[in-house]
Amino acid sequence: MKPEATPKMTVLSSPVGLKSIINSLVAFSIIVGFATFLFYQGQEGQVLMAIEHGHQEMQVQVAAEHHEQLRVKEAKVQLTAEPPDVSKEECNWSTGQWVYDNMSRPLYSGLKCAFIFPELSCDKYGRKDAMYQHWRWKPHGCDLPRFNATRLLEKLRNKRLVFVGDSLNRNQWVSLVCMVEASIPDDRLKMRVFNGSLISFKAFEYNVTIDFYWSPLLVESNSDDPIIHRVEYRIIRADRIDKHANAWRDADIIIFNSYVWWRKHKPDMRMKVMYGSFEDGDARLEEVEMVDGFEIALRKLTEWLGENIDKNRTRIFFAGSSPTHNWASNWGGVDRNKCLNETEPVYKVGYKATGTDYSMMEKAKSYFGTLEHKGIHVEILNITELSDYRKDGHPTVFRKQFAPLTKEQMANPASYADCTHWCLPGVPDVWNEFLYGYLMYK
Ligand SMILES: *[C@@H]1O[C@H](CO)[C@@H](O)[C@H](O)[C@H]1NC(C)=O
Ligand SMILES: *[C@@H]1O[C@H](CO)[C@@H](O)[C@H](O)[C@H]1NC(C)=O
Ligand SMILES: *[C@@H]1O[C@H](CO)[C@@H](O)[C@H](O)[C@H]1NC(C)=O
Ligand SMILES: *[C@@H]1O[C@H](CO)[C@@H](O)[C@H](O)[C@H]1NC(C)=O
Ligand SMILES: *[C@@H]1O[C@H](CO)[C@@H](O)[C@H](O)[C@H]1NC(C)=O
Ligand SMILES: *[C@@H]1O[C@H](CO)[C@@H](O)[C@H](O)[C@H]1NC(C)=O
Ligand SMILES: *[C@@H]1O[C@H](CO)[C@@H](O)[C@H](O)[C@H]1NC(C)=O
Ligand SMILES: *[C@@H]1O[C@H](CO)[C@@H](O)[C@H](O)[C@H]1NC(C)=O
Repeated sequence: MKPEATPKMTVLSSPVGLKSIINSLVAFSIIVGFATFLFYQGQEGQVLMAIEHGHQEMQVQVAAEHHEQLRVKEAKVQLTAEPPDVSKEECNWSTGQWVYDNMSRPLYSGLKCAFIFPELSCDKYGRKDAMYQHWRWKPHGCDLPRFNATRLLEKLRNKRLVFVGDSLNRNQWVSLVCMVEASIPDDRLKMRVFNGSLISFKAFEYNVTIDFYWSPLLVESNSDDPIIHRVEYRIIRADRIDKHANAWRDADIIIFNSYVWWRKHKPDMRMKVMYGSFEDGDARLEEVEMVDGFEIALRKLTEWLGENIDKNRTRIFFAGSSPTHNWASNWGGVDRNKCLNETEPVYKVGYKATGTDYSMMEKAKSYFGTLEHKGIHVEILNITELSDYRKDGHPTVFRKQFAPLTKEQMANPASYADCTHWCLPGVPDVWNEFLYGYLMYK
């Protein structure tokens, strides 16, 4: 399910070809059923926690009374934040700083969000520090437009928005669903459906659909099964994307992403590219560098968009690379602890972790740039640097995937801390504020 999965999570243990994926469809549907069951269980378990959290929130309110001045100051910030300053040329959302703001953050309660995933629900699974939920992103020279779920739903009325990509993009989808569903208190007016690679959220009053479609390598690959896939042995199909594209070709807004799946786990890691097909008897496999595979996928996606997208209807975004915090020595920590127990962002202005590859986003930008002459503009949500600061934002061991971590696992961050995905509420909420800003004002 996640790119840096431990061997335990690899359900099939021999190299998986495209054909054996088909053979495992039965096992797959059983596991999907299982996972769905867990999600529902998670929701039920949430009720008690939500009540506790409600109590906590009341305490927070009381404490806040003693900070009238701070409150007034924050109120001012909020006033200047609307209407937003987006017209100013010099304001670049990608550079700025995190401001501690326990008045306007978090934007929703993760414990109350009916559709949060247990692997992202850190406070529910034992994370005690709460500061990570209280940071607001402040670009230099302006404020991000203030998120308003009702206004977004109005904007999306009768539309379908689809996130297409890997588990980081799914992380952003869960975040957006939580940001929006809080404004729909009536359970009968919202719904989530799992259907293979597609997860769909619907807001009935508005006829809005917000989907996530699993396609971590963009083109067709041996990793197309959202549950059963090898993470270390990859084959992509250079000229096949239609199976995926059928799931999102009619969307009004598409947000692609693709980054961590192309990164090397070992210095000599390579991947395979398949041309032709077994069915046609002209299958040919070539071994390439990971980054070359990324370019092959980008080229195919770009070509497909150029030939098929109705630019009058569909707006396209590419979400920037989401950095990982697996190497604590980057910020002066001990590597074997990964990002465990980090409670504050990196404060150094302009910090870029050595492991974060900004060049892949540039590559994507240059491929998509070739569509400009056709009037197709792919917008980049450049959220990499702001996320790079947030070594404190990850679930680490406070999460549940298929089962809760054991005590032993929790004491072993080197193997079990997730420093790739993001706790919610948290950093991806800001990515969605970018998306909101683009949709409403740009
Ligand atoms: C909010 O943050 C301020 C500044 O860090 C702190 O003094 C205050 O106690 C916090 N308030 C609450 C309710 O946590
Ligand atoms: C924002 O600033 C960064 C860093 O200076 C730059 O690379 C990027 O192109 C800028 N983006 C825009 C839209 O101006
Ligand atoms: C959000 O937008 C709606 C509709 O425009 C408006 O009625 C509401 O007051 C806004 N909420 C906030 C918190 O600004
Ligand atoms: C509801 O939204 C879908 C797109 O998701 C659209 O195709 C359909 O026409 C909408 N229904 C109405 C009644 O507008
Ligand atoms: C699930 O998706 C398939 C296409 O992949 C579609 O034919 C089917 O109707 C969907 N099922 C539901 C319940 O939406
Ligand atoms: C897109 O809109 C433009 C201008 O409104 C129009 O001339 C063009 O025919 C439209 N293209 C399609 C494919 O609908
Ligand atoms: C993390 O914090 C917990 C609780 O304070 C502590 O028991 C544990 O030793 C810490 N782990 C690391 C690697 O610092
Ligand atoms: C994204 O923003 C960073 C600064 O935050 C900049 O260095 C980088 O060049 C930008 N990349 C793209 C593709 O805009």
